[in-house]
Formats: sequence, C-alpha cells, structure tokens
Amino acid sequence: MSNENKFFSHGTLEKNVGWLIIATIVVVSIAGLVQIVPLFFQHTTTEPSPGVVPYTALRLAGRDIYQREGCVGCHSQQIRTLRSEVERYGPYSLAGESVFDRPFLWGSKRTGPDLARVGGRYSDEWHRIHLRNPRDVVPESNMPGYPWLQKDAADASSIQAHMQAMRRLGVPYTNEMLLNAPQELEGKTEEDALIAYLQGLGISRRYITVDEVVSK
Ligand code: HEC
Repeated sequence: MSNENKFFSHGTLEKNVGWLIIATIVVVSIAGLVQIVPLFFQHTTTEPSPGVVPYTALRLAGRDIYQREGCVGCHSQQIRTLRSEVERYGPYSLAGESVFDRPFLWGSKRTGPDLARVGGRYSDEWHRIHLRNPRDVVPESNMPGYPWLQKDAADASSIQAHMQAMRRLGVPYTNEMLLNAPQELEGKTEEDALIAYLQGLGISRRYITVDEVVSK
C-alpha cells in the first residue's frame, strides 16, 4: 500500500470527504462538458427538425396559458425512445423539435398522458368540452377543469413584445408576422389560444420517418 503515502492517492481521497467532494465535482464537471458542449454545435440539436416552424401568434399566446395554468405539472412533452412510449404516443421526440421552445416544457411528471403529439388527435370541440370539464368526455379523469378560459380574452396587448423577445433569442419572426399578431388574437378567447397550441403539438413530425431526419 505504498500509494497510501502519496498526497493524492486513492486512499487519501476515499478517507477525506472534503477531497472526495472536490474530486467528484472536477470529474463530473469535465464529463458534463464533454457531453454538453458538442450539443451546441450539432445541427440536429440546434436547427429545427424538418417541418418545425415558429409558433403562430395564437399558438404562442396559448403556450403562455399552458405555462400559467401549470399543465406541465401533470403532462410531459417528451416521448422517450422506448417501444412502449412510441407505440402509445407516436414517434419519439427530437431535440430539433424544441428549438423554438423558450422555456422548454418537456416536464417530468405524468399524472396525465404525454402531450408531445396530441395535435390533431382530437377535434377542437373535444378539447373545448374536455378543458371546461374533463369528466364530460373522460368520466374517470382527475384533471381539473379550466372553465374560465372560455370567458377571458387572449392577451393581444403583449403579444408583439413577446414575439420580439423571441426574435432576439433567434426565432425567425418577420416584421409582417409581428405586425399581424394582434389581429390574429382579435376576438379569440384564452381557450381558443390554448386549443390552437395543443392542436399544433407534434404535428410536424407525425409523417416524418427517422431515416429522413438522420439523413438531413
Ligand atoms: C392534476 C393533473 C392535471 C393537470 C394540472 C392537467 N391535466 Fe390534462 N390530463 C390529466 C389526466 C389524468 C388526463 C387523462 C384523463 C383525461 O383525458 O382527462 C389528462 C388528459 C389531458 C388531455 C388528453 C390527452 C390524451 O392524449 O388523451 C389533454 C389534451 C390535456 N390533459 C390537456 C391539459 C391542459 C392543456 C392542461 C392545463 C390547462 C392540463 N391538461 C392540466 C391530468 C392533468
């Protein structure tokens, strides 16, 4: 055990909790950087997947409501690469699908089902009934109702500022899209906006095969 005498032997590390913590932090930091840094430069993680476009003004407003109401606390938006998930929810999620998501809403809690590909699965009318009182369409549901969303108007006053902020972060909104945004929200309720958001979730990837994405 001649190593025991050296200052930085394995024995010293294991017996000295302070050094063990420091060494662990160093190792984990380096390993983390090796994993994380390349992702900043890979086009599959930094560029939109085929068919993924920025949220329209109405969908962006709906996304705000999704955040405000805490839907992410019960619903994830990330389909893992497991057979059981793919068979239940559809093609697994790709990083390039979330490039316009700020903040991302992947979530980690599934009291309810994953919503990453819920777009187009139900009619707008189904969502309307479901959001007002989930038990009207799914009797055993324990999801809360959100009946006030049908009464409150979607917030047209802040949508341009919101889109401008998103543009600064790299979302390619044009001036025209910004100009038309308040009109797009005119006469719409928060419920309309939230449903528009839900109906757009995952639709871009529904008909795209993994091979197409890889060969891009
Ligand atoms: C307390 C947990 C909880 C919260 C909060 C919650 N949900 Fe749910 N949600 C559920 C459960 C459980 C189900 C499955 C039963 C059902 O369909 O109602 C569900 C189902 C759904 C479905 C149908 C999914 C499918 O594939 O059938 C949608 C869409 C949905 N929720 C949207 C929302 C939205 C939007 C919000 C926020 C406004 C929200 N949920 C908040 C628990 C929750």
